[in-house]
Amino acid sequence: MNMRGVILAGGKGTRLGELTRVTNKHLLPVGPYPMVYHPLKKLVGAGLRDILLVSGTEHMGDFVELLGSGREHQCSLTYRVQDEAGGIAQALGLAELFCANVRCAVILGDNIFLDPLAPLLEEANRHPDFAWVALKRVPDPGRYGVAEVVGNRIVSIEEKPAQPKSDLAVAGIYVYPPDVFQIIHTLKPSRRGELEITDVNRWYLERGRLGWSFLHGYWTDAGTPESLALANRLVMELPPRY
Ligand code: DAU
Repeated sequence: MNMRGVILAGGKGTRLGELTRVTNKHLLPVGPYPMVYHPLKKLVGAGLRDILLVSGTEHMGDFVELLGSGREHQCSLTYRVQDEAGGIAQALGLAELFCANVRCAVILGDNIFLDPLAPLLEEANRHPDFAWVALKRVPDPGRYGVAEVVGNRIVSIEEKPAQPKSDLAVAGIYVYPPDVFQIIHTLKPSRRGELEITDVNRWYLERGRLGWSFLHGYWTDAGTPESLALANRLVMELPPRY
């Protein structure tokens, strides 16, 4: 498959308070594993073997100690440092050389979900020029990117809207064609000072090149004490499918 995997595990994790004072969010336990194992196992389970992990300077050594070359996980790992937490799109921009001329499957390191990744990738791969997002109905859409779907098409996408137009969260699971990096170069920081992945997704939407799949099983992020506890409960009750 002409595709590579990217795990974004940077950011500050400030919403977890004392839990991330001396360690990185993605090293905290979710079920029987450190959080970062979950996106890694999803990508490997979908057949991807070349995977890039992006994290900040503070804990990169811990990731290398934990995951090494990737051999134990049947993959080859590459690491890139994001000097400052400048946003998800900025972190993805660091994959430009790694993903030159191939499509990339991107998972945010704090996203925990039941469904295996392969069916989503297969659907996305039927539209090689499209970016692809995963949508999930949630009770609190204002915490996330929110997509408005009419018929079978996404018609709008907004980041953490005060008045969400739907209850469809855009999960942190994305597929992009190689031109994503040109788009990232043109982005301006948002009000929260970050390069937003939602702006990238909107670029594709406006050009009729954004597709989507539903997530059928559970999905949550694990970036707050409440959602971290929820992620642990979900994973212990029903292990994610890889
Ligand atoms: O979880 C899904 C949501 O993730 C999406 O619905 C939103 O559209 C998207 O913006 C994002 O929202 P959050 O504000 O919850 O993202 P957060 O800042 O928590 O970052 C999520 C992951 O992205 C984090 O676990 C690591 C990675 N990241 C984030 C930043 C800001 C980086 O690698 N570098 C960064 O600079």
